[in-house]
Amino acid sequence: MLTLTVQPTRGVFLMSTDGVDLKKRRTLTAATSVVGAVGVGFFAVPFLKAWNPSEKAKAAGAPVEADIGKLEPGQMMRVKWRGKPVWIVHRTERNLADLSSMDSSLADPASDVPQQPEYCKNPTRSIKAPYLVAVGICTHLGCSPTYRPDIGAADMGGEAWKGGFFCPCHGSKFDLAGRVYSGMPAPTNLEIPPHQYLSDAVILVGEDGGAA
Ligand code: FES
Repeated sequence: MLTLTVQPTRGVFLMSTDGVDLKKRRTLTAATSVVGAVGVGFFAVPFLKAWNPSEKAKAAGAPVEADIGKLEPGQMMRVKWRGKPVWIVHRTERNLADLSSMDSSLADPASDVPQQPEYCKNPTRSIKAPYLVAVGICTHLGCSPTYRPDIGAADMGGEAWKGGFFCPCHGSKFDLAGRVYSGMPAPTNLEIPPHQYLSDAVILVGEDGGAA
């Protein structure tokens, strides 16, 4: 029989195995182990299920196709990728010419900060010069800037404004390659997501076939 001896002055419990029924103890130990194993199995199933991404979660991270076949020069369209807005802008010849004259106004004109895949580290930050593909989230605190293609807009600086994006939250300005102007709250250029052309009219946003 198991005997507990209490020594109050030290607050210590001493156990004695005198008279312990070892057979009964072994049986109890085995039974406890079985219950424990069953318990782990019972609870492990829901957890394992939670670790496997659902179809919905997989779809949320999936690449997205954008049909640019009807996107006219000067227009912008939006697609949603991983819950974020992605802009596709069809830049005009004039827009492209203006991009090369912007350097002195920009914080990172050569896109040295890696905010784009390597294949978009070029003066237009794109695979095909006419099309800008950019994540439409300001790099300051995450607002979504407004598309302002209106060259020379008085409220954007008049003559100096060559079209771009304006973040109304704290006033950051970006050019039509998503490059941030100098002295703005936004610290970096807009992000260019991985993407590739499936055809002349279809862009796949979110996957580049390992081209990065
Ligand atoms: S969130 Fe765009 S400027 Fe602050």
